[in-house]
Amino acid sequence: MKIIGTGSSLPAKTVTNDMLASFLDTSDEWITERTGIKTRRLITTETLIDMGADAAKKAINMSGIDVKDIDYIICSNVANNFVTPAMSCMVEGLVGADCPCFDLNGACAGFLFALDMADGLLKTGRAHNILIVCAEEPSKFCNWEARDTTILFGDGAGAVVVTRGDDHVLSIKMSTKSKYESLYYQRKMELTPYDQGTELYNPLVMDGRDVFRMAVSASTRDIDYVMNEANLSPSDITYYLLHQANLRIIESIRKHLDQPIEKFPTNLERYGNTSSASMVILMDEMIRDGRIKRGDLLMLSAFGAGFVSGACAMRY
Ligand code: UT7
Repeated sequence: MKIIGTGSSLPAKTVTNDMLASFLDTSDEWITERTGIKTRRLITTETLIDMGADAAKKAINMSGIDVKDIDYIICSNVANNFVTPAMSCMVEGLVGADCPCFDLNGACAGFLFALDMADGLLKTGRAHNILIVCAEEPSKFCNWEARDTTILFGDGAGAVVVTRGDDHVLSIKMSTKSKYESLYYQRKMELTPYDQGTELYNPLVMDGRDVFRMAVSASTRDIDYVMNEANLSPSDITYYLLHQANLRIIESIRKHLDQPIEKFPTNLERYGNTSSASMVILMDEMIRDGRIKRGDLLMLSAFGAGFVSGACAMRY
């Protein structure tokens, strides 16, 4: 599998920490010190599906392939306004593709799950070109009267086109350790004459400290595993593209690997945590501004609700 195109799309509205502090019991100092986040982009008039399609068109354009040569579309999305059809079906129509489509929900590690699926489809020969779109609006899961989760998230979309290539994926490892209580969002379903139900709706519930601990231990474990399997040492990696959740989580992983800070690029200070889109948006920015070059060794690592995590070593 080889990445031949990337794209991203962000909402126009920038929300600063001070703007949040005007209606929440928080401050720019606290958010900056505890998370590294300064601003985030939040959806106002945009739709997530349009943003996903916008990112996809940019990725297809960079790849140079004909849209009709896309054999599969995989969308990574936790939730959006449409429960069905899948977001990938709607993106297909907007980009003008004609292929099977499905969505997956791998929480913030969704991009890595999608890469793993795509790698498998390419290896079996079932597909030659696959479009992966990660589009997320976590701001719509939060309780905006509370400060615990709202300060962390931003909305955005990123996309890649992958094709068959020579051993660009050196190793990929995904994990799930079921533990939903630490991070979950329950949305409303319709009542029926037979199930008048108890109210199960809950905006995003998060035990931040627990997620922090699990994130650091899962990411360091996954990266060590992948590094070992690919016979790499930490200094071989050009860039560590880590899930953009919290600068302190990234710093803990960096310390474990004992590598210079320049190898750990971030954009969370501008966009917050955009869930599965975060590392794709970062990758797109770095490819477009020339920081990531062909031949560079990338270590991707992400974690999220589930609890899911994964890492992937790949040559760009
Ligand atoms: O994709 C995965 C998504 N989730 C994550 O990545 C979350 C991972 N966890 C984290 O990023 C951090 O745990 C947080 C940023 C959520 C919280 O940082 P923390 O250093 O773990 O803070 P804490 O929860 O231990 O709270 C420290 C203090 C508490 O006050 P007291 O008890 O010391 O008086 C909190 O009540 O900070 C208070 N606090 C806040 N103060 C201002 C908690 N949230 C806020 C806030 N503004 N937004």
